[in-house]
Parts: sequence; structure tokens; C-alpha cells
Amino acid sequence: MQELRVELGERSYKIIIGKGILPDIGRALRGLNPSKVALISNPKVYGLYGDRVSDSLASEGIEHHKVIIPDGERYKSLLWADFIYGELLRARLDRASIIVALGGGVVGDISGFVASTYMRGIRFIQVPTTLLAQVDSSVGGKTGVNHLLGKNMIGTFYQPSLVWIDIETLKSLPKRELIAGLAEVIKYGVIWDRGFFEFLEAERVGILSVEDDPISHIIGRSCEIKSEVVSRDERESGLRAILNFGHTIGHAIETATGYGRYLHGEAVAIGMVYESRLSDMPKDEITKIEEVISSYGLPTKIPPEIEPKALLSSMEVDKKALSGVLRFVIPKAIGSVIVEGVDRDRILSVISDR
Ligand SMILES: NC(=O)c1ccc[n+]([C@@H]2O[C@H](COP(=O)([O-])OP(=O)(O)OC[C@H]3O[C@@H](n4cnc5c(N)ncnc54)[C@H](O)[C@@H]3O)[C@@H](O)[C@H]2O)c1
Repeated sequence: MQELRVELGERSYKIIIGKGILPDIGRALRGLNPSKVALISNPKVYGLYGDRVSDSLASEGIEHHKVIIPDGERYKSLLWADFIYGELLRARLDRASIIVALGGGVVGDISGFVASTYMRGIRFIQVPTTLLAQVDSSVGGKTGVNHLLGKNMIGTFYQPSLVWIDIETLKSLPKRELIAGLAEVIKYGVIWDRGFFEFLEAERVGILSVEDDPISHIIGRSCEIKSEVVSRDERESGLRAILNFGHTIGHAIETATGYGRYLHGEAVAIGMVYESRLSDMPKDEITKIEEVISSYGLPTKIPPEIEPKALLSSMEVDKKALSGVLRFVIPKAIGSVIVEGVDRDRILSVISDR
């Protein structure tokens, strides 16, 4: 079992990573002394893991209420947040209660948002069950729901009290979801740690077969890197922006393809390939990034039917366009990045190269 800590003064918390640790969550919660617990999940994840969590809470004598929302990004909405508030009120959760979010990033984001606003904020615990949620969304305290006019447009910064990661849950995750999560893992190597990038290059087979040791290592190292960045810049006023490597082009691709064709990590993978090309690193370093992304079975090319100019305007309306100049996270070398404004012609030339 690994124990990490996100250092944020009085809002610091632990990340526990282990194999088969869901049945121990009751004991961890007992230590936090909740008056009651709401266990939020979706039908698929609850069907797979809900009983393990529920039995563990029951064995510690913790009163808990199950709240199930439908499975899917479109249910990460104010409407479903309101549904959850209703369930919490009916079950009479109070300010000493705790929300447990059991699921992927969708369940984690909406549960965190509800926790941050219910009775002006109650404690919550992330129990992420997708790789993306384990290495990214459960750590760092960004919560939110979507609006008809934009993804993640309504939200808060609100840190969990604990992140509880059972790597065994990845065994049931569809391969495509696992691989999409790996895009964010590769991102950490490129932005922060060349040695980690090389580990990903060398251990591909073990990682893709979800072997315990390499999987624990990549989750632990990803959480460490994210924690370190978030500890230095919780509210994205500076350093935290480097976590957006690949995301400026990635988001524009998701928008252009209507959020249906690519999973988020897949669009970020393509984004990382093109954003790397904005770098003045030696060509073989840029190629190495593309090769590792591609070796995991992630897409690397912007689909030819997406017009470069349309893609560029979509980036410009994105919130990252600051006073007209598009800023990108660009590798200086594998393992280190800078954030820099790039002029339109340069962007157009890079994204036109298919
Ligand atoms: N808060 C943040 O910092 C942050 C960062 C990145 C992404 N996000 C958000 O995360 C969301 C995406 O998260 P996601 O990729 O986890 O998607 P998801 O939550 O939709 O999960 C993907 C699918 O996998 C299923 N699933 C979950 N765990 C499973 C398991 N162990 N076995 C089998 N199936 C399982 C889910 O039911 C779902 O169908 C997006 O809404 C995105 O905006 C948030």
C-alpha cells in the first residue's frame, strides 16, 4: 500500500493506493467520525463494487445511504446535482456527514460539487474507479458540472478529505477507457519527469496488461506529480496550467467532433502530439513523444475533415485564450515545459500538417 499526501495546509489530505483495499474503507471512514454517509455512484460501478463499500461501512456501524445517478457525461449536470441534494436532505445528512464518490470522473466531479455546496460544504471522499479518475480527476480539488453552453462551466475548487484508490477496480475497466487514462499518465512524464516517461516507454506491456507493480507505480507517480503541482498552485493562477499540456488542441478536437467520437484522453493524446510540434526541441525528441503515445494505441492525428481554421477559432473561444494570444504548454525537453504565447500562423501551420 502506498500513502501520499497532498500538502495544502489545513486542507491537506492523504491518497491511499493499494490492491483490494475497498473492503477497508469503512475503517478509514470511522476515523473521520461521520454522522452519516451518502454513497454516490452509478448503476454500473455500484453493481461491480457497491456492496464491498457498503458492507465495509456497515461493518463499522456507519449509517449510509446509496444515491445512484445515471451513467454518462450528460448527467454531470445541475439537474442531477439537484437530484442528489434532494436525496441528501431526505436522508437528513448534516454538516458532520460525509459524501463518498464511487466511480469515474463524472461521479467524482458532480459529487465534489455537491459536497462543496450542500449546507455550505461537507466533507467528501474520492473512491476513483477509472484510471483517468485515479491519476487525475480525484486529486486536486476541481469539481464541477456541465452547462448546455459548455463543459465544466459550473464548478468549485474543493479538496476531498481522502482519496482511496483500489487498483483492482481497473481489472473491470474497458480497455479503451484504460488506454484513454494512460494519455494523462504520459502527460505527466512529458511535463515533469523524463525518468517516468522512460518507464512508460519500457513497461508498456506490463502496464497494458494491468500488472500490479507497473500499474501501482504509474498511479503513485502520477498522483505525486499532480499533488506537487497542485500544492504549489491550487487555483491555477500559474504553475497548474502546465497540467493542460495537450488540452488546448485536445478540447478543440472534442468540440469539433461533438464529444462523441473521442474519449477525453484520446483527444488529449492527439493534442499532445501537435502541441509538442510547437517546441524547438530536436526533432527526434518530438518524434519520441509521438511514438510513445502511438505505442499505447492512442490516436495521434487530427482527423482530415476538421478544418484547421475552424479548429483554431474553437481554441480562441476556449477560456485559455488570454487577451487574444493563444498560450500553449510546450515541452522544452521531455520532462520540462514552458507556457508561451504562439502566433496564429505558426499554430495554423502545425495543425495543418496531417
Ligand atoms: N476534476 C478534474 O480535475 C478532472 C480532470 C479530468 C477529467 N475530469 C472529468 O472526468 C470525467 C471523465 O472521467 P472518466 O474518464 O472517469 O469517465 P466516466 O466517469 O464517465 O467513466 C467512464 C466509464 O467507465 C465506467 N466505469 C467506471 N469505473 C469502472 C470500472 N472500474 N469498471 C468498469 N467500468 C467502469 C463508467 O460507468 C463509465 O461508463 C469528465 O467529466 C471530465 O470532465 C475532471
